[in-house]
Amino acid sequence: MFAHATQTVFGEGPIGAALMLVGETPGDQEDRQGRPFVGPAGRLLDRALAELGWDRATTYVTNAVKHFKWVPAPRGKRRMHKTPAQREADACEHWLESEIALVQPQALVALGATAARQLLKRPVAVLRMRGQWLEREDRRPVLITLHPSALLRLQNDAREAAYGAWLEDLRRAGRFAAATAQ
Ligand code: URA
Repeated sequence: MFAHATQTVFGEGPIGAALMLVGETPGDQEDRQGRPFVGPAGRLLDRALAELGWDRATTYVTNAVKHFKWVPAPRGKRRMHKTPAQREADACEHWLESEIALVQPQALVALGATAARQLLKRPVAVLRMRGQWLEREDRRPVLITLHPSALLRLQNDAREAAYGAWLEDLRRAGRFAAATAQ
């Protein structure tokens, strides 16, 4: 659980942000720095947001789970991310719901299956549903897409192709936010 994490990593961004991006759980860098999406997955997210002309400072960025869980790498000192168990995500549910209640976003982006499940309270087949808007119980729309770490696991051409499709998913979310902000 949270016992091996350095600190709790809450979301960051303005209250009233039109869009909330929700990831899975902090990684090694996020755990050290206490901020969401500042490691390799965060750099890919930042690259995408920059290409879309979308200022991260206007968006609320958070995770479904607030603590880093890790196992030691087989060799060396690296701390390897471990996917959170459902009960760990459930234990953090009230934090995520409190963030949504506070920020009141117009729409959310689920980055990967853990975020999608926590936001929609049911399992979502991310590869099948990506690029689609689903609706939460509170009627807020949730755009389903991949987690940036899934792209980082791909090599060269496959990664660039997947990145292009991911950018299009995020573009849809950005268009929605721009339209609701007017
Ligand atoms: N992966 C996530 O889901 N969230 C982060 O903050 C970093 C990596």
